[in-house]
Amino acid sequence: MLHNPNHLYIFDTTLRDGEQVPGSQLTTPEKIIIGEALQALGVDIIEAGFPISSPGDFQSVVELSKVVREPIICALTRANKGDIDCAAEALKYAKRPRIHTGIGSSDMHIKYKFNSTREAILERAAEAVKYAKQFVEDVEFYAEDAGRADNVYLAQMIEAVIAAGATVVNIPDTNGYCLPEQYGAKIRFLKENVKNIDQAIISVHCHNDLGLATANSLSGIQNGARQVECTINGIGERAGNTSLEEVVMALKTHYQTLGFQTNINTKQLYPLSTMVSRMMRMPVQANKAIVGRNAFAHSSGIHQDGVLKHRENYEIINPEDVGIDQSEIILTARSGRHALKHHLERLGYTIDRIDLDQTYQRFLALADEKKEIKDDDLLRLMGDEAETN
Ligand code: KIV
Ligand code: ZN
Repeated sequence: MLHNPNHLYIFDTTLRDGEQVPGSQLTTPEKIIIGEALQALGVDIIEAGFPISSPGDFQSVVELSKVVREPIICALTRANKGDIDCAAEALKYAKRPRIHTGIGSSDMHIKYKFNSTREAILERAAEAVKYAKQFVEDVEFYAEDAGRADNVYLAQMIEAVIAAGATVVNIPDTNGYCLPEQYGAKIRFLKENVKNIDQAIISVHCHNDLGLATANSLSGIQNGARQVECTINGIGERAGNTSLEEVVMALKTHYQTLGFQTNINTKQLYPLSTMVSRMMRMPVQANKAIVGRNAFAHSSGIHQDGVLKHRENYEIINPEDVGIDQSEIILTARSGRHALKHHLERLGYTIDRIDLDQTYQRFLALADEKKEIKDDDLLRLMGDEAETN
């Protein structure tokens, strides 16, 4: 497959792996709204669902394929004919269809999930890819639990599925087990030991059980992967998947070091995060990187003073770049005079005409009582001040 060597493919699986979260199921119209927003965001591939899992999921893949035409539309299957037939049928209106099939690759899965042998599983993997190739040109193979798989066996499996026609090979750290160095070394091992690896794109798919999904994905990219699988807000099974906004902003912030570009319109990241959070009933934690409520909020006096002198003292990303109007200076008992002055001026007060020290002492007394001082509180404080002066 020909591709720009600097392009990093963004494969969004919010509608499949993300939607597996209990209580987050979406209707077909909701999936279409999110699919259209993902298209506008600029993702390269949308994993639209797992068609065999339910009639509703099947229908969502059909309807999404009809209206979302720019990205590749992908459907998940297990490595069996029934699943693959169903996915091929669901994708029949897709302009650029991809079947994503696969099977377990760790001894744990081979023994306790499939009660099988390495040899039999390898054969099944290659057969599934060959079968899917009858329906679509673009077939992605996932080696489930590759994070815990033996590298030599994994390399044999990957070589066999590429020989069978896989265009993309996905190396999931299904259980979020690996350390970044281990995961990166696994990708490098495949790059160096799979003879036909240059005929396919290596994809990283990391889960966040140890909070390492983004770090592991970046490590995979630094070692040869050219597609990253991720979800908006990092939603997904258990502790979730790699967060799209984190990996995209890490690539952008460290472009000089990593050298990869994406087609993502980063200004859409925050609006899409809010939309997905609302529709999937999954609140975003306040300190979530990039899109959390506090991601661009400064609350301690030292940081507030620094950021008011120069934004970049405490911000490595311009909030406007991710669709957030501006950073926030939160007034609390940890704030200093500079932050108080900033907010008073914003509310129209002329600082030379008030005694800032005295106002600051009154502000601190109030802030010790309340957790956060809002505009109303400040206006009241200044009203009181006028009366006492
Ligand atoms: O985590 C995983 O291994 C998966 C595969 C089905 C791609 O989601
Ligand atoms: Zn997954």
